[in-house]
Amino acid sequence: MSKKILEYNTVSLIEEDLSVEIIDQTLLPGTVSLVRLKTAQEMWDAIYLLKVRGAPAIGVFAAYAIYVLAVDISKKTSDVESFYNEFLKEKEYLNSSRPTAVNLSWALSRMDNVCQNSLMEAVGQDNEVMIGRALSALHDEACTIQKEDIDMCRRIGENGLQFIKDGYGILTHCNAGQLATSKYGTATAPMYLAHERGMNIKVYADETRPLLQGARLTAFELSSAGIDVTLLCDNMSGALMRSGKVNAVFVGCDRVAANGDVANKIGTSVVAVLAKYYGIPFYVCAPSSTIDMNTKTGKDIKIEERPAKEVTELWYKSRMAPEGIGVFNPAFDVTDHSLITAIITENGIFTPEIID
Ligand code: MRU
Repeated sequence: MSKKILEYNTVSLIEEDLSVEIIDQTLLPGTVSLVRLKTAQEMWDAIYLLKVRGAPAIGVFAAYAIYVLAVDISKKTSDVESFYNEFLKEKEYLNSSRPTAVNLSWALSRMDNVCQNSLMEAVGQDNEVMIGRALSALHDEACTIQKEDIDMCRRIGENGLQFIKDGYGILTHCNAGQLATSKYGTATAPMYLAHERGMNIKVYADETRPLLQGARLTAFELSSAGIDVTLLCDNMSGALMRSGKVNAVFVGCDRVAANGDVANKIGTSVVAVLAKYYGIPFYVCAPSSTIDMNTKTGKDIKIEERPAKEVTELWYKSRMAPEGIGVFNPAFDVTDHSLITAIITENGIFTPEIID
């Protein structure tokens, strides 16, 4: 019997092959292809092209990636200074792959701190001993980041479960599921727990133009877990809410600013405005790795712009828009904190009142 999608790891370190293995998410749901990435270029491309995507998964991937690159650097130099300079170059390179999900820079900074600390602690020892210590610390830190991600998602599920009742219809946008994390997902974690505990829930997945993470990934992973899931185009959520079928909205996010504004997949803010209008609670699920206290408000979040062809050509047999037409293709939008009922984290629930 073939393996179900949730039985695969979204990201794994393959020690014996010194590579990071991912499911190439651009090929889902048709093909489950595991690819091993070894070079900085392959790793950068994997993030940029969304082969690995979703804020927490990008963080875990980046941690393993910089560890693999550090081992590679250590094979080329035994001088501590040039080892660390090359490490920093690779770190900055990976960090330039996508700007919005803070988990990328968060994980890389954690890895950098660990590298610096272990080098400092070993000052006075041979260069090789110092580098060896740094590599071992980097390895352990990357594994810890992944373990913490699993734990944070599980706890988000437990904290979010109180907002789901038997028989609920739940709308979600993009994929904040297991494929976007190491396990359980963020927005999907309360859904998986509700399902595990025998509640009847019906999930509605927005298809999520232009890259279809809702159709290709959320619909795929939730249905493979046996959850009742219905797909709709993004412009149908108003009609669905008006019909009374949605009791709650759960979404993930890529960055939470200090004032509680959140950036998530483009279209999220439209869902939030509609939910407010129809009086439907709107929950954002975020591990603490996605909270960025250095970013004051949503206005300060850098929003990634993606190529026009994702709108005009991708998924179509032939181009579906006039040649040369201008295209607006931001990958994320900002939802104002006033539209959010609560932000569900592994450490508890935050409401706009608490944040203000
Ligand atoms: O462009 P993507 O697919 O990386 O965007 C993903 C999202 O917007 C998710 O909702 C977000 O990263 C949260 S994942 C737990």
